[in-house]
Amino acid sequence: MKECISLAIVGGSRGAYLGPVLSTLAGKARLAAVCDNNEAALRRWQEEHPDVKAYSDYALLLEDPDIDAVFIATPLFLHARQAIAALRAGKHVLSEVIAIHTLEDAWELIETVEQTGLTYMMAENYCYMRANMMVKNMVEQGLFGDIVHVEGGYIHDCRTLFHDANGQLTWRGELVRDYKGNSYPTHSLGPVAQWLGINRAGGGEFDSLTTFVSRSEATANYFAEHVSPDHPGASPGYWKQGDSSVTLIRTKKGAVITLRYDIQSSRPHNMTHYALQGTRGAYLSERYGGEDPLVWLEKPEESKRHSDHASWEPLWNGEAEWEHPLWKRWKSDADQTGHGGGDFFVLREFVSSILERRKPAIDVYDAVSWSAVSPLSMLSVDLQGAAVPFPDFKRGRSSVSG
Ligand SMILES: NC(=O)c1ccc[n+]([C@@H]2O[C@H](COP(=O)([O-])OP(=O)(O)OC[C@H]3O[C@@H](n4cnc5c(N)ncnc54)[C@H](O)[C@@H]3O)[C@@H](O)[C@H]2O)c1
Repeated sequence: MKECISLAIVGGSRGAYLGPVLSTLAGKARLAAVCDNNEAALRRWQEEHPDVKAYSDYALLLEDPDIDAVFIATPLFLHARQAIAALRAGKHVLSEVIAIHTLEDAWELIETVEQTGLTYMMAENYCYMRANMMVKNMVEQGLFGDIVHVEGGYIHDCRTLFHDANGQLTWRGELVRDYKGNSYPTHSLGPVAQWLGINRAGGGEFDSLTTFVSRSEATANYFAEHVSPDHPGASPGYWKQGDSSVTLIRTKKGAVITLRYDIQSSRPHNMTHYALQGTRGAYLSERYGGEDPLVWLEKPEESKRHSDHASWEPLWNGEAEWEHPLWKRWKSDADQTGHGGGDFFVLREFVSSILERRKPAIDVYDAVSWSAVSPLSMLSVDLQGAAVPFPDFKRGRSSVSG
């Protein structure tokens, strides 16, 4: 077994974020190659990393025997096929979100991971944000009681990323033009699924979902004002995805999850949008950068008093007691990396799970069940919001092994 993993980054734009994180893993992982089919992007990488191999053809990268693992950071439509190809070529895979875009790919990805026995992890960095990890720690200590409702949202005006300088649609623009549902569910769902223990002993699985999508307005207005009134995108009918969508998921253990997805509406970006309701406590993430996340835990003497007398407390007040052990250990390193430290923990967990020959914290069943909200929500929308069941991705081995 190798002591240092040779990693290749595929897709240079997002991949560039992980470069600095790799330096925190010296001796355990090294950047061995980059791959991008865009000449300009590849040239930028070569200038910054003259000592690593550069590939413009993914198939050739996969033939390189020096590469142990790939980080796939290409447009999301490509993730599943590229992951399956890498596993078949004997490489471990860290995949950007979302893991799969169709249910057919979901099944093939699971089968390929099971057949090859290689490590597959989805890089859901929002799970590792400090507040989300602290809440997970509190949940595991039973402080909230039994959880009955959780909420997650990905609300991020991304319209400037829908087109290039010539008004040509990017892959994000195509996603909004062609699909109607929740096409990017894992930032909102991943952390709350972990709070509920989904796919783990005691947490059960997702049961079914329903999705409603609002009408489309915001992106047409933006294209008319900022791209060109003559662009086809200046007409609301051009965009299949409405501005805001809401998905409700019921779990087999009777909890309800509310997910909001909106990458078009005009508003400042707030990275976190989460809530939790248990039988003995509740959590609310901050509404904007700089505000404190809030928590309320029932005290025995208060349980018979009316809730009007109860008050929220900043989550950080409980830092000494509730900080997740991983954040206690790695805070100074994590604080220097992107997405609230999430990028640091994702890469560290991926590399450690390979070296320690264990399952990664976000395995293929998590990756597929969280990502399947994308195709299932589109099906529900087509059926006017009818409830759609989740496939049994573990094929009867329900939550025994995680
Ligand atoms: N986890 C997060 O917080 C986070 C943040 C941003 C993006 N993402 C995810 O990362 C992925 C990339 O997003 P982005 O914003 O960097 O996109 P992007 O379009 O800016 O970059 C994608 C890169 O992939 C390259 N590429 C496309 N097809 C390729 C192929 N077949 N082989 C090799 N390279 C190819 C492109 O040339 C481009 O350089 C997406 O799936 C996105 O969802 C995740």
